[in-house]
Amino acid sequence: MAFPQSFLDELIARSDIVDVVGSYVQLTRKGSNLFGLCPFHSEKTGSFSVSPDKQIYHCFGCKKGGGVINFIMEEENLTFPEAVRFLAKRAGMEVPEEQGDREAGRRRQRLLDLNRDAARFYYQLLQQPEGRAVQEYLDRRRIRRATAVKFGMGASLDSWDTLLTAMTKRGYTKTELLEAGLVVQNKNGGLYDKFRNRLMLPVIDTRGDVVAFGSRVLDKSEPKYMNSSETPVYSKRRVLYGLNLAKKSKRPNIILCEGNLDIVTLHQAGFDNAVASMGTALTVEQIRLLSRFTKELVLCYDNDNAGKIATERALQLLNNSEFSVKVLQLPRRLVDGEYIKQDADDFIKFQGPDAFERLLTGSENGVEFRMAQVAGKYDLASDEARVAYCGEISELLASLPNAVEREIYTVRAAETAKITPDAMKLEVQRAFKRRLSQEKRAALRRELNPAVQAQPKERAFRYDNIRSAKAEEGILRLLLMDASLFPPELSLTPEQFSSPLLGKVYGLLRQAQAAGRIPSAAVLTGELTNEEMSHLTAVCQQPESARNGKQALADYIRVVQTEASKRAGGGNLDPLLAATEKYKDKKRGKQHGE
Ligand code: CTP
Ligand code: MN
Repeated sequence: MAFPQSFLDELIARSDIVDVVGSYVQLTRKGSNLFGLCPFHSEKTGSFSVSPDKQIYHCFGCKKGGGVINFIMEEENLTFPEAVRFLAKRAGMEVPEEQGDREAGRRRQRLLDLNRDAARFYYQLLQQPEGRAVQEYLDRRRIRRATAVKFGMGASLDSWDTLLTAMTKRGYTKTELLEAGLVVQNKNGGLYDKFRNRLMLPVIDTRGDVVAFGSRVLDKSEPKYMNSSETPVYSKRRVLYGLNLAKKSKRPNIILCEGNLDIVTLHQAGFDNAVASMGTALTVEQIRLLSRFTKELVLCYDNDNAGKIATERALQLLNNSEFSVKVLQLPRRLVDGEYIKQDADDFIKFQGPDAFERLLTGSENGVEFRMAQVAGKYDLASDEARVAYCGEISELLASLPNAVEREIYTVRAAETAKITPDAMKLEVQRAFKRRLSQEKRAALRRELNPAVQAQPKERAFRYDNIRSAKAEEGILRLLLMDASLFPPELSLTPEQFSSPLLGKVYGLLRQAQAAGRIPSAAVLTGELTNEEMSHLTAVCQQPESARNGKQALADYIRVVQTEASKRAGGGNLDPLLAATEKYKDKKRGKQHGE
């Protein structure tokens, strides 16, 4: 994964940040910087800035920032090496591949080839007489031939080694078959097929690679579903079943369901925008993946308790995201005087696609879902319960950041509680004021206590020694602003920095300078995480005068070195004493901090 530094330097030089960012964001020049609407959070006034001199971007709103590679990682949802390849393609540069990299790439490709061959093999078995049991199962579930083909469905046979034999004949090794999770080893070292006598559902990622398999038994036996284990080409947190098809849908949103066969039925009924996470709760990785294809999600989990919990959890995860989220609640079905659970598959079967379409257009947004959840807790026929309901619902309404939403749902809640809208409004206002004064009190506490205020928000970058860290920030700001200040006169070492992150940055700059490179933000590429990079760009955005840079730098350095020698016990190198000093510092920090 380590690209040669000379290659990265050239790549960054050939990928001007203004050009690259400019193809995603409309930028206008203001002074020496350019500004635009931040692509990483929604806003109406541009707080996203790009500095052509420093070749970095920074958002004053969401605090994200970094160099051109960080930008592509964020914007295109790519890993570091992927972003490097992306930019190299854009700049028309060839990527030098590392030996180890090429080997790992080859192994991955072998596994993908094996998965594809296995999927083809299962598929062909389904078309043959041996696959009859699976075909009959598909018929029972009314899954049409064309649908099965679209999903690449197949059949595994009631045998221990059909796949093992076929794939071995094709030249795949035992190790490869084990690594792909297609065969399993018994206690005596013998191998046998993992999937037997099942409907096979290949899991295909958005690139079109078969990365894993899901499978279902044909009868009532357990386990009902059996999926591939995690492999070098499959991480279930990062894949959504059906997204390979849903990404091409013309519908405006993506529907999230629980089960694989719900997806199949929905697609067959014309809802080709449905996907499922296979037997896991929705993950942040899946949300990032979805954000490439849509801005609107519809949650359609089962209408049982587990489904409600999954919905609430997904809403929390999606809260404050760029997605607009709706909840499609499937009704329960009355059978023999009892209401039973229905999933999307059942609903389509019993109620038909038109009824589902109606639910889809009428589906509630997240607020409505939560309000219904609260209402469901109370028996609103009793006065006592209505009072309690008003108390809880007003807290929920007061938490809505949008005033228009607050107003609309307040009227709705009043209807539910059968009280006047004015009374409800009053209740919500009270709750709102309580929240505000809580927030104000917290802000006041911060104001009265500068130590707390000075702490960066991200926990990972809390400073142990604020006085030193502020000076360390100043040093980096000056050096990044004016490379001619290098090397700093006094013998400053990275170890003297109290913040490991800032010390590391200083070390990298110094190293680059010693190697004859310009010590700019570009040399940090690939060395810092996106969060670290964001923190650093935020540091660089704070005002710093370039005039008297030399003097300011010397002052900062003196602070850092004084603090460092205090930490070391003021020249007294007794480790015990140094440790107690540190302990005292920590305690002091705590008292200030809370
Ligand atoms: N699942 C799983 N392993 C299990 C059970 C379920 O991975 N042992 C996953 C599958 O992806 C399944 C989903 O959870 O599709 C939902 O499971 P469930 O509601 O039990 O099944 P249905 O989707 O209703 O399956 P079917 O209609 O085939 O009975
Ligand atoms: Mn089902």
